[in-house]
Amino acid sequence: MKINDISTDRIDYGLGRLERDDLNASPIAQLTLWLTHARQAEIKDYNAFALSTMDYDGFPSSRIVLLRDCDEQGLTFFTNYNSEKGQNIERKNKVCLNFFWSTLERQVRIWGWAEKVTEAESDAYFASRPRESQIGAWASQQSEVLSDRSVLDQAVQACSDRFQNGDVPRPPHWGGFRIRPQKFEFWQGRSSRLHDRFVYTLQDAQWSIQRLNP
Ligand SMILES: Cc1cc2nc3c(=O)[nH]c(=O)nc-3n(C[C@H](O)[C@H](O)[C@H](O)COP(=O)(O)O)c2cc1C
Repeated sequence: MKINDISTDRIDYGLGRLERDDLNASPIAQLTLWLTHARQAEIKDYNAFALSTMDYDGFPSSRIVLLRDCDEQGLTFFTNYNSEKGQNIERKNKVCLNFFWSTLERQVRIWGWAEKVTEAESDAYFASRPRESQIGAWASQQSEVLSDRSVLDQAVQACSDRFQNGDVPRPPHWGGFRIRPQKFEFWQGRSSRLHDRFVYTLQDAQWSIQRLNP
């Protein structure tokens, strides 16, 4: 089956433009501003980004995760440390992130190093999650083969029984990663594919900014 019109469907971007003078000296502040715009635009999962890691064979592997914190220390998300992404990062902690907000015609790419957040930070975030998600974190062996959905349902029930009405502690294999960025690219769609692109690179603890060809 072919998707009709996929080769001819085209959008000419024209919502905005990005000038050197628009950019904050701090790429984290610039990202925070764009995340705020995405939230104000009521984009569903405005804090979702594609996280790329490298597997054993050197294949890049991407999946969507949710940004849960963003400050000058870095960008934080939470996951199962035993998952594919967790194991990939354990071996090689260079990662690439991609945010795309279609309705704003904007994309941000970030390169950096992932490191585990402190246990106290993971505990605090885990405690803020809904109880069902806390139980799910115990029940799911994320990225492992599951023979049948009923096996997961039984694991959820068993964990639910185990914790009854008490607090659900954080599983030791579940927590946050913080990405310490070393490069950012901010992209704003423009007409005729002549987009605006600016790259921030970290040199001697200073961010320098350059415009790129579209
Ligand atoms: C919108 C969205 C948000 C997601 N957020 C997370 C997240 O914050 N953490 C997480 O571990 N998985 C999240 N997932 C699931 C991942 O994309 C992925 O399926 C899962 O983490 C297993 O990936 P892995 O096998 O590559 O480790 C999200 C998926 C979507 C579509």
